[in-house]
Amino acid sequence: MQKILITGFGGFIGYSLVESMKEKFQITAFDNFSELSNYEIKKARVAELGITDFDSFKTKRIFQSASATFHYADLCNMAELEKSFSSNQFDCIVHLAALTGVRQSLVNPQAYIDSNVKGFVNLLECAKKFGVKNIIYASSSSVYGLNHETPYAENQKTDSPISVYAASKKVDELIAHTYAHLYGMNLIGLRFFTVYGPWTRPDMAAYIFMKAVQDNNPIELFKEGKMIRDFTYVGDVVKSITLLIDKMKNETASGHEIFNIGNHHPIFTIDFLKTIEDAMGKKASVNFKPVQAGDMLATNASCEKLFHYIGYKPQTSVLEGVNEMVKWYKAFTQRVSS
Ligand SMILES: NC(=O)c1ccc[n+]([C@@H]2O[C@H](COP(=O)([O-])OP(=O)(O)OC[C@H]3O[C@@H](n4cnc5c(N)ncnc54)[C@H](O)[C@@H]3O)[C@@H](O)[C@H]2O)c1
Repeated sequence: MQKILITGFGGFIGYSLVESMKEKFQITAFDNFSELSNYEIKKARVAELGITDFDSFKTKRIFQSASATFHYADLCNMAELEKSFSSNQFDCIVHLAALTGVRQSLVNPQAYIDSNVKGFVNLLECAKKFGVKNIIYASSSSVYGLNHETPYAENQKTDSPISVYAASKKVDELIAHTYAHLYGMNLIGLRFFTVYGPWTRPDMAAYIFMKAVQDNNPIELFKEGKMIRDFTYVGDVVKSITLLIDKMKNETASGHEIFNIGNHHPIFTIDFLKTIEDAMGKKASVNFKPVQAGDMLATNASCEKLFHYIGYKPQTSVLEGVNEMVKWYKAFTQRVSS
């Protein structure tokens, strides 16, 4: 069984990945449960993984389940990372931990650079020291920044980020290239495009829309709902990562590659909202607002490179994905309120 280190397991994508991989791989996972974002839902997610006594986990800083070891640990703490690397020979690292949220990165830039850049470098240093060659890490569609040449392809310019978050992801890509070049590592960067689905983040449009519709609260829609997003279903992201892990296992080459992971069917945010309204059987009341600093007007992925590499690209329609997400949201909010 392959040994995989996953970072960010309390987060939306990290949790979804661990949940789907836990029978097939031996998993070690890290998260610092940053209180800067979405703390409560992180606790609810990891309860699904068996960590039902969160206070005890926080004190002991480790939880062992049948198929995984979970660490309450910060990637900025090199000593804790080294301890884990010295007692495990990982076959692959999937690095998803980061401070996320474009707007928060303008409020707290230092924290973003610590987690997103220093945390990544610590991980790479451990990988170098303990001989872990294969690393998949999360970048973001936000690196395309002011580039308006859509659909975005991996070989286009990404030198005009418009948020500290986006800049931190671009730095990660440059550092990844450097480590691959210097130390013969095999690194894959994934530019995710607006991921949504069950257990989505409460600061993201998908959750904000569902909550507002359910609670009869008004929704703020920016640029009259005409911002374009390539909403990508989390199950497709998890499947792509799993296929990439398998592919890397059988590869002897080293280097650095970047792949877009998007749905390649971008839609207006107002149409995404309409799909949610239909799935919830309720209408929203909408307030239109101007675009906010740091937000991109349109994201739209070309996923041909990914398809050529693993024979797969995201394929869940927004209708199917939203239905799954709304089913989860209704059950989740009912459970939390009862
Ligand atoms: N969700 C999206 O639409 C999207 C889009 C583009 C890129 N991404 C990237 O994908 C990755 C996962 O995103 P997500 O939506 O699951 O985010 P998330 O915020 O739900 O999860 C990130 C997790 O990382 C943890 N973390 C942050 N700093 C840490 C540190 N220093 N040490 C240990 N853990 C730390 C957080 O506590 C959190 O649980 C991130 O790197 C994000 O930048 C996500």
